[in-house]
Amino acid sequence: MLSEKLVQKINNQIKYELYSAHLYYAMAAYCDSQDLPGFANFFKVQAEEERFHASKFYDFLNRMDARVLIYGLEEPKNDYSSVLDAFKASLDHEKSVTKRIYALTDIATEEKEHATISLLKWFIDEQVEEEDMFNGIIKKLQRIGNDSAALYMLDDELAQRTFTPPASPDTAAQ
Ligand SMILES: [Fe+2]
Ligand SMILES: [Fe+2]
Repeated sequence: MLSEKLVQKINNQIKYELYSAHLYYAMAAYCDSQDLPGFANFFKVQAEEERFHASKFYDFLNRMDARVLIYGLEEPKNDYSSVLDAFKASLDHEKSVTKRIYALTDIATEEKEHATISLLKWFIDEQVEEEDMFNGIIKKLQRIGNDSAALYMLDDELAQRTFTPPASPDTAAQ
């Protein structure tokens, strides 16, 4: 049985994953306002991925016979000075998610809660990918600079992104 503290922290993380989706959806809307539908698609897919993360924690609590609670969300930042600015804000956000996942792992480790540790290992690996992905796009955008033809090429590339739930032992079994 999970401790009350861990259940509360995981419920907070569900909120944070849903907030991430909210934030990325706001970034999608910003990109659409800049007539960059490929970038908007990228953020819409990212929002779906964040909802998937929330549902992974949700399903875990449910399976562990703990109570899932859904909290209210703050208003995300809607305005950015450029797409690069939005991607920098995304990377900062992902770094804060990583810190939270590490803090959760510390608690689960203290409590010797191995099932939770196993779930969090998946998230630790996921965060390495998330930070790498945002970093990669930031580098491309920095190289692009004011070259609008190159920006539209990247927009076309990001229009191709689709959501595929990442394979993991517990999703594969479902
Ligand atoms: Fe996430
Ligand atoms: Fe994320």
